Amino acid sequence: MTYLLDPTGRDLQGEAARLRELGPATRVELPGGLTAWSVTGIDVLRRLLSDPRISKDARRHWSAWAAGEVPEDWPLHLWVSVRNMFNASGDDHRRLRSLVSKAFTPRRVESLRPEVERIATGLLDSLDAGGDTADLREAYANPLPIEVICLLLGIPDDTRPELRALVDAVFDTTSAPESVVANQERLYRTLGELVEAKRATPGDDLISGLIAAHDEGDGSLTATELADTLVLLISAGYETTVNLLDHAVAALLAHPDQLRLVRTGERGWGDVVDETLRWQAPVANLPLRYAVEDVEVGDVVIRRGEAILAAFAGAGRDPLHHGSTADEYDLTRPDKAHLAFGHGVHYCLGAPLARLEAEVALPALFARFPDLALAVPVEDLRPVRSFISNGHLELPVRLR
Ligand code: HEM
Repeated sequence: MTYLLDPTGRDLQGEAARLRELGPATRVELPGGLTAWSVTGIDVLRRLLSDPRISKDARRHWSAWAAGEVPEDWPLHLWVSVRNMFNASGDDHRRLRSLVSKAFTPRRVESLRPEVERIATGLLDSLDAGGDTADLREAYANPLPIEVICLLLGIPDDTRPELRALVDAVFDTTSAPESVVANQERLYRTLGELVEAKRATPGDDLISGLIAAHDEGDGSLTATELADTLVLLISAGYETTVNLLDHAVAALLAHPDQLRLVRTGERGWGDVVDETLRWQAPVANLPLRYAVEDVEVGDVVIRRGEAILAAFAGAGRDPLHHGSTADEYDLTRPDKAHLAFGHGVHYCLGAPLARLEAEVALPALFARFPDLALAVPVEDLRPVRSFISNGHLELPVRLR
């Protein structure tokens, strides 16, 4: 049987639960009629993510790609076609990842703490100066990661709104074919202009470093890889962290007993980060991986050339691992195992940065507004239109 995946992501956790009931791997239909195996079991998924028989290279290992069944205007086209570390393997993956990995070591990330604190304080000051209610996603969760990633990459202020709109479109899995192509063209045009501007006046930032690697290196970094690495850093470094902040705030406000545990110091902000990642993985489903040969998963066989969707949101709530309380938000659970940052060689490069941002932004917010409360019932929060990105369209709160 093939399960029709809801492209709007209206009920990500309900869908994940239904898929889990069908087994650890279930065949799903993606937008556009293409199919993949959704893997929702945490132990099975962890194993597949480090299995050498599973590839991320659509061009070499996806039979639908070879058969010409993946049109350029497919909403997920960018995800499977970009040429950067995300879809690379072996030596190519090491080469592309090592170009930027130095900027994400725990020490380098820790050195950004004062900047992250400054950004958080500035946003809280603006909130404080405004009215009693606010959309916290728009006014806090969203701008904080954007400012951090733009600082790291050296993206000027006036380019940020345009890039934000373009990245939002990348995560929208309901886009019409015409807008998919138009958005990609705009994204690459904007990035091209940015690269040219940086080339003319380089700075002490990641984009300038990548341009130097392209212009002065041994020619191994192509212009496409340079542009696609920027697409990855901007999109991975932003929407995901927005969702983490958004869900952490919503979860704590909807569970006052849990918030009390953090306020009294019985549990730390690290517990909040991990339990939120487990309970609401910011990347609910990640496209795509491909079986290089037949791979057995429980009582099904994923055939060579078939695609796999990593269902991180489903895996975090797997009752086979987390028991009957898997659906509860509980900071005291001793085992908060999740795969929200992935696993294996593609493990999230920005994980230490995302943790730092959350561990600065969340305590600063709750300290500034001790009476913070949701302004609508939690059931009324609406999800973003995506089965990849797991966050809310708005997070209306009362600040005081
Ligand atoms: C809560 C926030 C974040 C979440 C949940 C998250 C999630 C993920 C996941 C699931 C992967 C693995 C992809 C795979 O299995 O193929 C990944 C990879 C990646 N992430 Fe993150 N991410 C977050 C924040 C960040 C930040 C702040 C950056 C900074 C730029 C970043 C950069 C990357 C990069 C470059 C990769 C590709 C690594 C590779 O393919 O080798 N991420 N992320």
